[in-house]
Amino acid sequence: MYNFFKCPKCSKSFSLPTCSCGFAAPYDNMVYQLTSDPYMIKDETATVKYIGYEDIGEAYSGVSIHTALKVEEKFSQLAKIIDGGTLLDLACGDGLLTVPLLGLGVKIIAMDISDKMLALLHKRAESVGVDASNLVVCRANALDIPLADNSVDAAIANSMLHLISKPELVVNEIYRVLKKGGKFIALEDKPTNNQLNDCTLSEEELRDNNKHEEMVSFVHRRYFEMLKAEHEIISTRYSWKFDRDEICGNLFSTREAIIVPMNNKVQYNFNDTFLYRMRGKGFSDQSDVPFDLHHIVLDRVMGEFFEKYGEAALDTVYTGWENDIEITVYSK
Ligand SMILES: C[S@@+](CC[C@H](N)C(=O)[O-])C[C@H]1O[C@@H](n2cnc3c(N)ncnc32)[C@H](O)[C@@H]1O
Repeated sequence: MYNFFKCPKCSKSFSLPTCSCGFAAPYDNMVYQLTSDPYMIKDETATVKYIGYEDIGEAYSGVSIHTALKVEEKFSQLAKIIDGGTLLDLACGDGLLTVPLLGLGVKIIAMDISDKMLALLHKRAESVGVDASNLVVCRANALDIPLADNSVDAAIANSMLHLISKPELVVNEIYRVLKKGGKFIALEDKPTNNQLNDCTLSEEELRDNNKHEEMVSFVHRRYFEMLKAEHEIISTRYSWKFDRDEICGNLFSTREAIIVPMNNKVQYNFNDTFLYRMRGKGFSDQSDVPFDLHHIVLDRVMGEFFEKYGEAALDTVYTGWENDIEITVYSK
């Protein structure tokens, strides 16, 4: 389909699955294997560390994997920006963005370091019945993207740069594989003005919303307080505070920001969303916590939680206000 993959063996351009040097990309479970790098590198002596989600998988996705395809305005905006070109969805995970964009007819090369996340992407595509004929899925390392220079029209690396100890190296790679004029698209949800100013939540909904935030931070804080005090384990964070604009400003020629207003009320419950993921050790900052210890500590935290908030707090449905989305487009 495409003739601009970079061969992992000889580095020349080739079309999947076979390079003229003799390299043949293994194809397992509808995934081309284009790296043999580990799922995660956390060794203190490694020059670059990253957290792949192989141990997280399902705990990241939760019920969303079966949610019917809802093509929101943000996806239509993204499709408009991509404008018929080929998109690299780097660190695509379980296809949260990939699948709705496929539904809009975008041609996508999806890459992730985790086989489990890529299997979930296929599961999501299947469960919503999207046409996947425009999709190529590869296991690959974002630090060494297996694409030739100047090959794709657009790239997204949503919610992943913070997982790399040197995110600038991934941004350099994205820049390298984009065509001249190609677009690096970054998404961010912005706590909206609506939420603060003309929000249409009732006073009760706002109060519940604040309570939900408080419960989330209680569980997260007590969990890591106990781990630190008793086991010297701290929350693993690589680049949560890096300045994307600064990194991109040094490379790309233009930057444009578009705000997509969401204006929606959303309903969620603590048990099925935050706690589901926390229980499954589905947050990257839990990646240094051994599973057995995780369960012991979380049980104790939940003991404190029930004393403070009561068991019924788990099943309450909260109504919140969906944040607006800021889409930043950096052009090469
Ligand atoms: C928080 S998830 C985001 C997934 C998806 N982009 C989304 O928006 O839902 C981060 C993803 O980055 C992947 N990842 C982490 N390090 C990576 C690397 N070095 N190369 C490729 N993928 C990586 C993880 O496996 C995981 O699927």
